[in-house]
Amino acid sequence: MVTILGMVAVTIVVLASGSILLFMVITGAPPVPSKSSEIADVVDILRSTHLPQNPQIFELGCGFGGLAVALARAFPTARVTGIELSILPWFVARLRACRLPNLTVLRQDFHTSELEQADAVTCYLMMAPMVALANTLDKKLRPGTRVAALTFWFRGRKPTDVRRGPGVRGEVALYRWPGRTSSVTEP
Ligand SMILES: C[S@@+](CC[C@H](N)C(=O)[O-])C[C@H]1O[C@@H](n2cnc3c(N)ncnc32)[C@H](O)[C@@H]1O
Repeated sequence: MVTILGMVAVTIVVLASGSILLFMVITGAPPVPSKSSEIADVVDILRSTHLPQNPQIFELGCGFGGLAVALARAFPTARVTGIELSILPWFVARLRACRLPNLTVLRQDFHTSELEQADAVTCYLMMAPMVALANTLDKKLRPGTRVAALTFWFRGRKPTDVRRGPGVRGEVALYRWPGRTSSVTEP
């Protein structure tokens, strides 16, 4: 009995790890959650933009849902949509969203998502996927949409605001898409 349970446990761990690795290869981004201090910076920078009364916020690549949950709590009148392709993180994020009526978590490739109604978009990916994401946002976002990028910024786009710490953590850049003008100096 103990042997069977052990084999089941090992199989689950192997499948879960394999799934995470497979989607890391597909998406180019591991499901590393943002820290609470980084989440606080993203919330703060979005708040400073005076979002409309019932904003639509999209968390692109929401991983296990930490930032999506925080956004739904920080902006209770917002409709927050977390989008995640990797099965295990998506499943966990979906469970975490159960008690939050203003948070929906979709299993999707965000390049195919309907982002046209977004008032704000957040992302925490890796350097390489940011290039493709910029192209997708160019096609889908309304001019002036708020885009908050954590740690990995958009090359060739100019942030209008940043949050840089204190402490060791990812920096947050805010863009008014498509981000051709800036009021801050890039690092
Ligand atoms: C670093 S994690 C970010 C986690 C979360 N945003 C947070 O702040 O805690 C990046 C996530 O983006 C997801 N991802 C990358 N490209 C994606 C795509 N095209 N569509 C959906 N999810 C994607 C990955 O699967 C990964 O879970």
